[in-house]
Amino acid sequence: MYVLLMGPPGAGKGTQAEKLVEEFKVSHISTGDMFRAAVKQGSELGKEAKRYMDAGGLVPDVVTIGIVREGLSKPECSKGFILDGFPRTEEQAIALDGILEGLGIKLTGVINVFVSDDELVNRVTGRRICKACGATYHIKFNHTKVEGICDKCGGNLYQRDDDKEEAVKNRLKAYHSQTEPLIEYYKKQGIYKEITGMQAIDKVYADVKASLTENS
Ligand code: AP5
Ligand code: MG
Repeated sequence: MYVLLMGPPGAGKGTQAEKLVEEFKVSHISTGDMFRAAVKQGSELGKEAKRYMDAGGLVPDVVTIGIVREGLSKPECSKGFILDGFPRTEEQAIALDGILEGLGIKLTGVINVFVSDDELVNRVTGRRICKACGATYHIKFNHTKVEGICDKCGGNLYQRDDDKEEAVKNRLKAYHSQTEPLIEYYKKQGIYKEITGMQAIDKVYADVKASLTENS
C-alpha cells in the first residue's frame, strides 16, 4: 500500500491516515506532523517552518522535499506508507515521482478527500489534538469521553497555532491556488480517486478502503 491522501486543510487526511496505519500497519508520513515535531524540538528546521505555518502559507519546496526524501528512504516505508499532506505543489509532485522511481516504488493510489470550504472551517476550528500521542479529536464530531483528555493515552488536548481563523483562510487560499491543480496531475497518471469527506468518519473510511481495493 503506497498511498497519497490529498485534500484541503481539515478534510480528514490525518484522521483517515491514522485508521489506515492502525489496520494495515503501514508508515504514516505527514509533512505537517514532521514540521510540528521540529517546532517542538526548537530545531533550525522548526524555526523556519513555524514562520510559514503560523501564517498559513506553505513551507518552501526545497525544505519540504528534503524531509520527505529522508522519510521515504527509511526501510520501514518499503512495506507501505500513507503520505498525508505531500505533495502540495507541482514541484513537490515532480520531485516525489523522482524519489519513488529511485526507490523502485509505484503509487497504488491517490485519494482526494473532498470537503466544502464552509465545512472545513468548522472542522479546523473545533479540532483538538493530544499533546502526548498526537491523536486527533473534534469538540462536536469526534469528542473525547472526558473533556480535554485523550481517550487513548490520558494526555492533555491542545489547539494547533495555525487553527486560528486568519491562518485557516490563508491555508485555504494556498490549497486552492497551489495544491488543487495537482488533481489534474494525478488524473493524467490514471491513479486518481475522489471520495466525499462530508459524511461520518467511519463512512469516509469505508470509501477510502473501497477505492484502494478498486485500484489493486
Ligand atoms: P498539515 O498539518 O498537513 O495541515 P492541513 O493540510 O492544513 O491539514 P490538517 O492537518 O489541518 O487537516 P486534515 O486533513 O489532516 O484533517 P484532520 O484529520 O485533522 O500542514 C500544516 C502546515 O504545514 C501547512 O499549512 C504548511 O505550512 C506546512 N506544510 C505541511 N505540508 C506541507 C507541504 N507539503 N508543503 C509545504 N508546506 C507544508 O481533521 C480535521 C478535524 O475534523 C478534526 O478535528 C477531526 O476530528 C474532524 N474530522 C475528520 N473527519 C471528519 C468527518 N468525516 N466528519 C466530521 N469531523 C471530521
Ligand atoms: Mg493533518
